[in-house]
Amino acid sequence: MRAFDIEQVRADFPILGRQVYGRPLVYLDNAATTQKPRRVLAAMEDIYLTVNANVHRAEHALAAEATALYEAARDTVAEFIGAEHREEVIFTSGTTMALNVVAKGLVNQGDNVIVSEAEHHSNIVPWQLAGAQIRVLPIGEDGLPQIERLEELIDDRTRAVAVTQCSNVLGTRPDIAGIVKIAHKHGVAVVVDGAQGTVHEKVNVSKLGCDFYAFSGHKLYGPTGIGVLWGRRELLENLPPMMGGGDMVAPQEVTFARSQFAELPFRFEAGTSNYVGAVGLAEAIRYLSEFDPHDIERHERELLEIATNELLKINGLQIYGGIDSRAPIVSFNVDGVHPSDIGQILDKQGIAIRTGMHCAQPLVEHFGVSSMCRASFALYNTKQEAIALAQGVEKAVKMICR
Ligand SMILES: Cc1ncc(COP(=O)(O)O)c(C=O)c1O
Repeated sequence: MRAFDIEQVRADFPILGRQVYGRPLVYLDNAATTQKPRRVLAAMEDIYLTVNANVHRAEHALAAEATALYEAARDTVAEFIGAEHREEVIFTSGTTMALNVVAKGLVNQGDNVIVSEAEHHSNIVPWQLAGAQIRVLPIGEDGLPQIERLEELIDDRTRAVAVTQCSNVLGTRPDIAGIVKIAHKHGVAVVVDGAQGTVHEKVNVSKLGCDFYAFSGHKLYGPTGIGVLWGRRELLENLPPMMGGGDMVAPQEVTFARSQFAELPFRFEAGTSNYVGAVGLAEAIRYLSEFDPHDIERHERELLEIATNELLKINGLQIYGGIDSRAPIVSFNVDGVHPSDIGQILDKQGIAIRTGMHCAQPLVEHFGVSSMCRASFALYNTKQEAIALAQGVEKAVKMICR
């Protein structure tokens, strides 16, 4: 196990050494995407330089090696999320695609789906497109879904409860086990959006008890364009595939009249897979596995505490959602100041945050605003950066309110 030394961690991420407008970069937009350690980039370069071939198709040596690397990446992911069976791990382009696969496959005409008010658009729109009637599980002022109201929303046409494991806006973490308990009592599937959840806590889908779980590589220090859908085997076996094409059909089973689909996981992986992305994701997981997860959690909690305490010293600043046991994500506003003004002034100081609706309009509007500033931390951020955030916001507010 590698000791958690922040300077050494930062040295793994070349981009952190760059300057923006002549200032050292302070990257606090990690909930949007994280930076990549050198070894992830090296693994991807290596496969292109030395192995590259399409997977699951040809007889030749390169194809066999590329296929072996791709399938080894599946094993790495399966172990990382505690999947019982490797074929339950489906590679997708990201969380969004994974949720679309589930929505398209699960929903029939007349079905309804319960989503929490804290969802990213990726866990709302796919259900609408699939034709489900959306029922909303409201959140309280702490930003957490009011689980006690779940049961009253369920009826015999409820196909799924779809909920985030960690809000990308508030960092709050719903009680997934509690939701699973109620949903399963009524035979309703639970779909978990793990886009932020995988990043800040050790995930074990088997223990979590959900039925489907989705996440993205790029939020987990891996490359863009690769993500994962995990589903319980018996459910995936009965889910119709969303996309048709090469590799998802059974050998010699395609005619103009009909086609038969391949076994899991291939029936959901139509077309040429992003095998390079999968290898990059596996490398990111191996990188993270070097550390004791408690060290990362402790470090991120400290950053959150510093940022929260320092921000709250600013007059008129409000942090949204409950503070307890949240991931290192803070969304805030300052009375009378537009968030995008704060974002722009911070940017000129080299500090990258995000402002706006964060692809979660219903959640942002729940708090009576149309935009929020969001700072989100990663394992490579420093205490000085958490302080710099608050100092930067204070400076911005002074400039704007002069
Ligand atoms: C909670 C949550 N769900 C889903 C998504 C969508 O992820 P992707 O764009 O990687 O598909 C995001 C991305 O911001 C997110 O934060």
